[in-house]
Amino acid sequence: MDQRISVKTFYIETFGCQMNAHDSEKVVGTLIGQGYTQVATPDEAELVFYNTCSIRDKAEQKVFHRLQQFKRGAKGKKIAVLGCVAQQEGEKIFEKAPNVSMVCGSASYNKLPELLVQLETGNRRVTGLSLDTDLTFETPLTRRDNPHRAYITIIEGCDKSCSYCVVPFTRGPERSRTGASVIAEATDIARAGYTEIQLLGQNVNSYRDPSPAAWDFAKLLDEVGRVDGIRRVRFTTSHPRDFVKEIIDAIDANPALCDHVHLPVQSGSSRVLEGMRRQYTRAQYMERIAWMRAAQRPIAISTDIIVGFPGETEADFEETLALLDEVGYDSIFSFKYSPRPNTWALALADQISEEEKTRRLAIVQERQREIQIRQNAGYLGRVEECLVEGFNRATGQWMGRTSQNKPLNFLRRSADQDLSGRYVHARVTRAGPNSLVGECVN
Ligand code: SAH
Ligand code: SF4
Ligand code: F3S
Repeated sequence: MDQRISVKTFYIETFGCQMNAHDSEKVVGTLIGQGYTQVATPDEAELVFYNTCSIRDKAEQKVFHRLQQFKRGAKGKKIAVLGCVAQQEGEKIFEKAPNVSMVCGSASYNKLPELLVQLETGNRRVTGLSLDTDLTFETPLTRRDNPHRAYITIIEGCDKSCSYCVVPFTRGPERSRTGASVIAEATDIARAGYTEIQLLGQNVNSYRDPSPAAWDFAKLLDEVGRVDGIRRVRFTTSHPRDFVKEIIDAIDANPALCDHVHLPVQSGSSRVLEGMRRQYTRAQYMERIAWMRAAQRPIAISTDIIVGFPGETEADFEETLALLDEVGYDSIFSFKYSPRPNTWALALADQISEEEKTRRLAIVQERQREIQIRQNAGYLGRVEECLVEGFNRATGQWMGRTSQNKPLNFLRRSADQDLSGRYVHARVTRAGPNSLVGECVN
C-alpha cells in the first residue's frame, strides 16, 4: 500500500498587519502552484494554515485559541503555523499544540515547496525557522485578494530595535528587493488592470536597492508612480528617523503618489521615546510634520500610539495628548503597551497597571475622535476624487476612498452601473469622525 499521504486542499486564515496579509497572498499562490486547492473553511481542508501575528499578547493568544479548537475531532487534518508566532515560538509550538505539523517563519517561505514535499512524504513535523537569510520572498504566482489595490513588498525584516517590539525577532534583518524587480512587478500589476499600489515594509524609508542602481526610497516611489496605468501609490510603514524630506519632494513632484503619510510616533514624550529606543525626539518628529504641512498638496497624516509604556507618567501621557492636538492627525491606531518576549522593555521596572492603560487608551481615543470630527467637517462641500471599492447593500452606498485615504461613501441616482474599480468625483455632504458621505458629481 502507498504510505504517502496526499494532502491537496488547504485553508488559510491570516492575522496581523498588511505584510502578513500580502505574505498570505504569496503563500496561496505558491500552494496553488504546487497543485493544492484553496477551500473556504477549515473543516473542508486537509491542510490548515494560520499566518500569525505576535505584536501584542492578544494577537498571539488568538492563534493558540484556534489551535485548541482542533484538539478534538480533527483526525488526519494537518495544521501549519506560519508568520510571527511561528518564528517567535519555534518548536515550542509542537509541545503546546501537538496537532501542529509545520512551523515556518516568514524568512523561510522560500522553503515552503520543500516543506510541503516533506509533509506529503510522511514527515510528521517540519520546520522553517532560520532567520539567517538575505533573500526576500517573491513569486510570480501571488494570488491577490483585493481586485483594485495591489500590495508589493519592497523590504522585509527590520533593523531597528524599538524596545517594545517583537518584529526584529520574528522577521529578521532588513532585506530590500532590487528596484528593477519592484518595477517589473508594478508593471505586471498595471497590465492586469490594477491602478493602485501599496508598497510594503516594516520600515520602507530604509529601503535601499541592492543592485548597482542603488535607489533610495524616494527614488523608488517616484519610479513606481511613473509606471503606466498606475494612478495611486501608497506606502507603509514609515519610521520617522529615516523619513527624509526627499519623500515629500517626490510626492510634490508626482501626482500618482497619494496625499497620505502614516508616520507612527508612539509617544509625544521625548523621555518615553528614549525608553522606547525610537531614535528621535518629539522635536525631530515635529520637524517631519512641518515638511508635510509645507507640501504643495494637503497631506493627510496618520499615526500609531502606544499608551502605558513602562514608566510613562501622567505628564508624559499629557504630552501625547498635546501632540495629538498639535498635529491634528487624520486618523490613528492606538494600543495599550503589551510586554513581549525577547524585548528590552520586558525587563523595565515601573510597569503600568492594566486599569491605568485602559483609562489612558480611552482618553486618547476620545480626544482623537473629537479631532477627527473637526478635521472631517473641513471637507464639507469639497469635491474629492475617490477610487470605488465596492457597494454596501446595507446602506445603499458606493464605498470609495480618497487619495488621503479617507473613506468617502456616496449615493448614485442610477445604481445599475457597477462602479467598482472606477475613479469618480464626489461632493462631500456629510462628515463623521471616521468617514465622509457625498454625492457623485460625474
Ligand atoms: N514597523 C512599524 C509598525 C510595526 S507594528 C513601525 O515601526 O511603525 C505596528 C504598531 O504596533 C506599532 O507602530 C506600535 O504602535 C504597535 N506595537 C508594536 N509593539 C507593541 C507592543 N509591544 N505593545 C503595544 N503596541 C505595540
Ligand atoms: Fe518594530 Fe520599531 Fe521595527 Fe517598527 S521600526 S517594526 S516598531 S522594531
Ligand atoms: Fe504582527 Fe508580525 Fe505584522 S508581529 S504586526 S504580523 S510583522
